[in-house]
Amino acid sequence: MRCVRLQPFERKQLSLVEPWFLDADTQRWLGGPAWPRQMLDLADRPLAEFRGAAETGRYRWLAWEHDKAVGYIDCGTYDRWTTWEGGPGGRGVIGTIPRPAGSISYVVDPASRCRGYCTAMVTAVMAMPELAHIRLFTAGVEAANAGSVGCLLKAGFRPLNPEPDREGVVYYARFTISCDAYPPAGDSHQTAGSG
Ligand SMILES: CC(C)(COP(=O)(O)OP(=O)(O)OC[C@H]1O[C@@H](n2cnc3c(N)ncnc32)[C@H](O)[C@@H]1OP(=O)(O)O)[C@@H](O)C(=O)NCCC(=O)NCCS
Repeated sequence: MRCVRLQPFERKQLSLVEPWFLDADTQRWLGGPAWPRQMLDLADRPLAEFRGAAETGRYRWLAWEHDKAVGYIDCGTYDRWTTWEGGPGGRGVIGTIPRPAGSISYVVDPASRCRGYCTAMVTAVMAMPELAHIRLFTAGVEAANAGSVGCLLKAGFRPLNPEPDREGVVYYARFTISCDAYPPAGDSHQTAGSG
């Protein structure tokens, strides 16, 4: 398994990351070159409620191998995980996993893909001391994004619900301790989630 070092992503490093967003796959699944700057701008805003969960933190890192930046990964943290059925006529929150949750997204330098860097980044994020309280790591992926699905499966994630939600997204998750430790609380559901 590859080993990468995660360091906080800073504005002065935008020029390292923005070229990765000229790539067609990056644009298809995440967005264009404005995306990394938007992520940094968002990080400066006050924490808020999102889809029935309270935001508790925002973390963004660059992944380094030796002196080369190979990828970017972020994690938004929440007080719980919610299953969201939004959109027109949607029902809003339809299920909750009442445990601290972290929602990740990532990109690998197009020149360095298919060499295990995504799997290494995801594994490294789950070991970050800032995230030691997180009990459930999640990532929302469109089914056709084979690279992202492959990375998550390799990092030990599994779909909370294999059926895509109304937005076409499947949420993959990995609990940091056994699911058996988390019986449903009250009327909460143990399936699916959205961040
Ligand atoms: C998704 C992405 C981060 C994967 O990064 P990566 O470093 O290439 O992934 P890894 O090398 O760790 O691959 C993990 C597994 O997925 C497989 N995989 C990677 N890319 C793949 C692809 N395009 N098609 C099919 N499988 C793929 C790998 O083969 C590997 O499995 P293996 O070791 O059994 O062969 C990268 O393709 C990317 O940056 N895509 C654009 C942005 C994006 O989609 N972000 C995620 C949004 S949800």
